Amino acid sequence: MSTTLIRGGTVVSSTGSSLQDVLVDGERIVALLAPGTSVLGDVAAGAAQVIDATGKYVIPGGIDAHTHMELPFGGTFASDTFETGSRAAAWGGTTTIVDFAVQTYGQSVQDQLAVWHEKAAGNCAVDYAFHQIIGDVNDESLKAMDELIGEGVTSFKLFMAYPGVFLSSDGQIVRAMQTAAGNGGLIMMHAENGSAIDVLVQQALARGETDPYYHGVTRPWQTEQEATHRAVMLADITGAPLYVVHVSAKQALARIAEARNAGMNVFGETCPQYLYLSLEEQLGAPGFEGAKWVCSTPLRSRAEGHQDELWKYIRTGDVTTVSTDHCPFCMKDQKELGIGDFSKIPNGIGSVEHRMDLLFQGVKDGKISLEKWVDVCCTTPARMFGLYGPKGVIAPGADADIVVYDPNGHTSISVDTHHMNMDYSAWEGYEIDGHVDVVLSRGTVIKDESGYVGTKGHGRFVKRALSQNLL
Ligand code: URP
Ligand code: ZN
Ligand code: ZN
Ligand code: ZN
Repeated sequence: MSTTLIRGGTVVSSTGSSLQDVLVDGERIVALLAPGTSVLGDVAAGAAQVIDATGKYVIPGGIDAHTHMELPFGGTFASDTFETGSRAAAWGGTTTIVDFAVQTYGQSVQDQLAVWHEKAAGNCAVDYAFHQIIGDVNDESLKAMDELIGEGVTSFKLFMAYPGVFLSSDGQIVRAMQTAAGNGGLIMMHAENGSAIDVLVQQALARGETDPYYHGVTRPWQTEQEATHRAVMLADITGAPLYVVHVSAKQALARIAEARNAGMNVFGETCPQYLYLSLEEQLGAPGFEGAKWVCSTPLRSRAEGHQDELWKYIRTGDVTTVSTDHCPFCMKDQKELGIGDFSKIPNGIGSVEHRMDLLFQGVKDGKISLEKWVDVCCTTPARMFGLYGPKGVIAPGADADIVVYDPNGHTSISVDTHHMNMDYSAWEGYEIDGHVDVVLSRGTVIKDESGYVGTKGHGRFVKRALSQNLL
């Protein structure tokens, strides 16, 4: 096994930053060294490989706790496979992805999880884990939730949206939450009032309002706040911890903050698209262009000020994690399914490659601290999803999942240069004041200044523990 010394950098954790050298032996970090310490310097002098991180940040590898590689949706599949999507993650400094295995009506949870294992095994550039979507809550799937805890799949996504596809009734949600309260699992909630939305969608289409913009208009913030409130109340009844995914409405986050202030185990996740993009500018782009940004929950109005409020909730800790909800579809033949009917546009945006950069821009812009960046992108996702220790921290004994990030570098985002399997970029023209220089996954350099140098199949399935998610 080889040793690597990362020398001269500033190690940034979720709680502070200091100049330290990082010594890696094999797959693990073995020591943090005060720069110039002579005895330890001798050890370090034997390192087979030295990475100069002078003037750069040395951070834990990013953990993207919300991706959908190859997701079946609306008659097509998300365009990144585990191979292409995990490679793009590596380019962007993300060394662990947590993807969603999907069970829907009439399917066996265990069979479906096996399908997702098959899709991912041997194909990933970085380590991966799974959440389980429970689309059909019944006696069998509740039993499977108990079984999955022992298999390292310790979080379960339920839907209050998509009637006829994924939606759970309130009664089903209560049963699943009771199960999670009993087995220590975490309930993840897609909180939108799907029945109300479906009516608004049909009415809009009947009026001839078929452009992508109306995807946003027919999913107003009230449908998100109402569902979030209901989810919080059902969590209160059952005692289940609740993690609300892809929150975009400031009113929904206010509800989450209120629950947290009352001492509840409730957490909010947002995504880069909700921090930067808007209903008016992107979904409202001319013609069919807005289809590039059709996702659910939808982008929110800039005039209403959701984006700034979301940054505020990152600072207050009510948004605990920033994930991408990476769910890419090409315009050609995929998003185009919804020409003339926005409800047929497959929902999703691809950002797995850009999350670390986009959030670092928030540091540069003075919206969040350097430590908060590491907290929401690396450390809290690890704690929240039972990965902490091996992942999410630079410390002796941890996996050597490490990113050397250059705050003086530059990244231009474009379809011409990105590595996701998409024929457009939702972030075209974004200029980032920072750059992912080197990425190590369990001690192996998988990306350096020459580009991607990893291998398909290096990434392993990670069995997750229960969340360390107490307030
Ligand atoms: O639009 C989205 N978010 N697509 C992915 C599926 C989901 O609901 O997370
Ligand atoms: Zn969702
Ligand atoms: Zn999602
Ligand atoms: Zn660079």
